[in-house]
Amino acid sequence: MSKPRLLFAASEVYPFAKSGGLADVAHSLPRALSTDFDVYVVMPLYQFVDRERFNIVALGEHFDVMMGGVVYPVELYGCEYEGLDYRFIYSPLLCDRDFLYGPPESGYEDNAIRFGIFNYAILTLLKRHAYDIAHMNDWQCALVPLLIKDDKTIQTKTLFTIHNLAYQGTFESSALKALGIDDEHFTMEGIEFYGQVNFMKAGIAYADVITTVSPTYAKEVLTSEFGCGLEGFLKHHRSKLVGIVNGIDTEHFSPSEDRALVAPYTDLTGKAVNKKAYLKEVGLKGAKKPLFIFIGRFTWQKGMDLLIESLPKLASLECNIAILGEGEVKYNGELKSIAAECSNVHLEFGYDESLSHRMYAAADFLLMPSLFEPCGLNQMIAMHYGAMPIVHHVGGLADTVQTDKEFDPKTHDGHGVVFTRPTERSFINAVRHALELYGNKRYYSMITKHNMACDFSWNESARSYGELYRKVM
Ligand code: GLC
Repeated sequence: MSKPRLLFAASEVYPFAKSGGLADVAHSLPRALSTDFDVYVVMPLYQFVDRERFNIVALGEHFDVMMGGVVYPVELYGCEYEGLDYRFIYSPLLCDRDFLYGPPESGYEDNAIRFGIFNYAILTLLKRHAYDIAHMNDWQCALVPLLIKDDKTIQTKTLFTIHNLAYQGTFESSALKALGIDDEHFTMEGIEFYGQVNFMKAGIAYADVITTVSPTYAKEVLTSEFGCGLEGFLKHHRSKLVGIVNGIDTEHFSPSEDRALVAPYTDLTGKAVNKKAYLKEVGLKGAKKPLFIFIGRFTWQKGMDLLIESLPKLASLECNIAILGEGEVKYNGELKSIAAECSNVHLEFGYDESLSHRMYAAADFLLMPSLFEPCGLNQMIAMHYGAMPIVHHVGGLADTVQTDKEFDPKTHDGHGVVFTRPTERSFINAVRHALELYGNKRYYSMITKHNMACDFSWNESARSYGELYRKVM
């Protein structure tokens, strides 16, 4: 019997284009699903995607997207990568840009049109190539379920995943016409949101199933604290809302086989070699002191304000701190001036996949003070690499990191330092607690070894997605 056909769409997929965790999920989940489904992954062919390196070629399929009386030409490209079939949508307006969504802190003004093209192009693929399931991710492809509904000829069922409710794709009401969407959808039950057009609402209202990336976040989004104004709307659709925790790609993130490392390892002795090498690489002193790392986007969500506020105090403790990331410009200056004053703080701007692997391999602790976190992947990568996470008890962090105070070697859960209030005081207390733990070598190693052996792979979660697909098919 042939496998059901799945079209998995995302606006970013690692290693072709990446701004955050969505790209990692869009890389690793489809691979895990490919044992049971015939999977095609589709994304825009941004101009900075390396066509040569990935052998991306034109498939000889052209079509026009007609939207609001304007014609946008589309050309289909494809490649095979790590055994999966990728499809790329090329349309000049969507793709010929320097950034995915816009320069830091601002989206391109025509993002509604750009991603409108992406959504209509996906619709055309669904029409032409008959898929059983379309799995759409985040606002950038959230219109597809609405377009399918209006089309009336497409049988494909849809699953819509919310990776981050804080980004909904909201645009001036004039976008409705430019997107060629009928006025009948511009209501509270549809895609109207305080007088604006809201892409994410289309996914929530019209998809057959909605998922979000952890069970705790699935509950949190129903509250005014985390619902970003959509809590009522989500409550209305809660019967089709499910939380499934993300996994990590344990082939790509494998300390024993990781080619980015100076010395791949399976235990803490091997890990220590990587720590020494990294400290030397970046000029930090004192291999006996615990190394704390922060890797991520410099945004409010990731707890940057809390991190910056606490950093001078943290740096005064007996430790080294290394920070890697990029994001909102306002944080750069503050981070730079702290790093300039503290010889035990190392700061690196940018995003460097291989360097991040070396940091996980070197670190004793990962700092993750996120104010909210739909799932978070770094805490799982850290545990897998034998670095203990220090996390704020929210969203996926709450689901994947249990407190060290209740460590039970018999469970299969990862453990770390957990703090419940996002204040400077409780964050610093958590770090002090981590220092104590680090001093108790036997206990620290016991937890860390346990974490390294936990299963953070996609196996179980991919099975849950498969079950959901089958339920609606
Ligand atoms: C977003 C969320 C993050 C999640 C990722 C992948 O980046 O902020 O928590 O892990 O999507 O689902």
